[in-house]
Amino acid sequence: MKVLVVGNGGREHAIAWKLVQSPQIAQCYCVPGNGGTATLRKCENVSFNGEDFEDIARFCLEQAIDLVVVGPEVPLALGIVDYLQSQQIRVFGPTQAGARIEASKSWAKALMIEAGVPTALGETFTDQVAAQAYLEKQGAPIVVKADGLAAGKGVIVAETLTEAQRAIAELFTAGFEQLVLEECLVGEEVSVLALSDGLTVRPLLPAQDHKRIGEGDTGNNTGGMGVYAPAPIAPTALMEQITREVLQPTIDTLRQRGIDYRGVLYAGLMISPTGGIKVLEFNCRFGDPETQAILPLLETPLEDVLMACTEQRLAQFPPLTWRSQDHPKSDTNTGLQCAVCVVMASQGYPGSYEKGKVITGLDEAEAQGAVVFQAGTCLQSGQLLTDGGRVLGVTALGDDFGTAIARAYEAVAQIEFEGHYYRRDIGQRALNR
Ligand code: AMP
Ligand code: GLY
Repeated sequence: MKVLVVGNGGREHAIAWKLVQSPQIAQCYCVPGNGGTATLRKCENVSFNGEDFEDIARFCLEQAIDLVVVGPEVPLALGIVDYLQSQQIRVFGPTQAGARIEASKSWAKALMIEAGVPTALGETFTDQVAAQAYLEKQGAPIVVKADGLAAGKGVIVAETLTEAQRAIAELFTAGFEQLVLEECLVGEEVSVLALSDGLTVRPLLPAQDHKRIGEGDTGNNTGGMGVYAPAPIAPTALMEQITREVLQPTIDTLRQRGIDYRGVLYAGLMISPTGGIKVLEFNCRFGDPETQAILPLLETPLEDVLMACTEQRLAQFPPLTWRSQDHPKSDTNTGLQCAVCVVMASQGYPGSYEKGKVITGLDEAEAQGAVVFQAGTCLQSGQLLTDGGRVLGVTALGDDFGTAIARAYEAVAQIEFEGHYYRRDIGQRALNR
């Protein structure tokens, strides 16, 4: 089989890394890929713009690609799946209509209400005066969400009225035509990524991201500074409830609207202190960095289950299998291994940062048993350089979280680049449960 992965982040490195492990995969191409996918065995980067669908389609037809996997939301929202399907190319990912679940917060909110999916109370506004009036009525804290794709910068959790007023004014001024104002939920967040073939859903192991830049969840929001899986906050019974009350009704309602959703449905959920679940957002793709912790735990060949999604035979697909503990312990109920991924970022991220710093120590880190997924890197004249804010995701597994955390940080300690930054508390929440 020949596969092509669209995207250039740590998530795409993890997808390609998992695919090439299978003896069924003869060749993987990444468009445009990064320093990690450039050096992966059976994998090659192809350099044309990831959003130039005609080039991608031509390449897929020339190379007889059997399956395309799309990583990021932007090409999905621009209709890459619709275009490739029109050229008879098999692709895993939702169509443009399905990708609205991430691309439009107001559309997603209306869908959730129609599907009866538990979510924060909220309203959509196209007009600043009405939004400010609603705000006066509701008071703070309140959450202000821009309607379009905003690369993680479109959500403001406003603690005060002034902060919310400023957010509303700024987002309208920035050109967003619609905003959603919603109640501020409290609790613990969990990411549940599910595979769907348009009829059936199969959740992957739950993961918990660390979105803030600083230890103890302080400071600015980022794309994600680290993650662990399976998140103990979502044990089997809760996963079943999430499937029943959130994932399946969403896929059913999409289908009733004529949307055949064959891709990842990613629910960002808030679990309240009393165990209630509410959806904060849906994404139309694999999470980053969630994928870097989830895929190393997956035993099932990824291409098999993704093919089953594209061919709408997920209901007949055998249960997904996950790596079990080397030395099963009676005190953990899952019997599964744990994964911890620590993100190493450039100094200054999520603000401005420099690029082009030499990265060393990857082989030493991998010799410790970790897997180093590359995100913002490039390979120049044989040298690996930083090329983005989030540079690496260092993943380690263990029979328990304590072991996985220790292994991940031992590997991180082997890696050097000028000004590197990482949080030292990734996975602590899982330990404290
Ligand atoms: P979103 O892009 O909708 O996931 O929002 C980004 C982040 O904002 C989430 O991961 C939460 O930390 C926070 N957030 C979003 N919606 C709410 C809400 N209704 N209440 C509290 N926090 C929220
Ligand atoms: N980890 C957050 C996201 O993928 O959107």
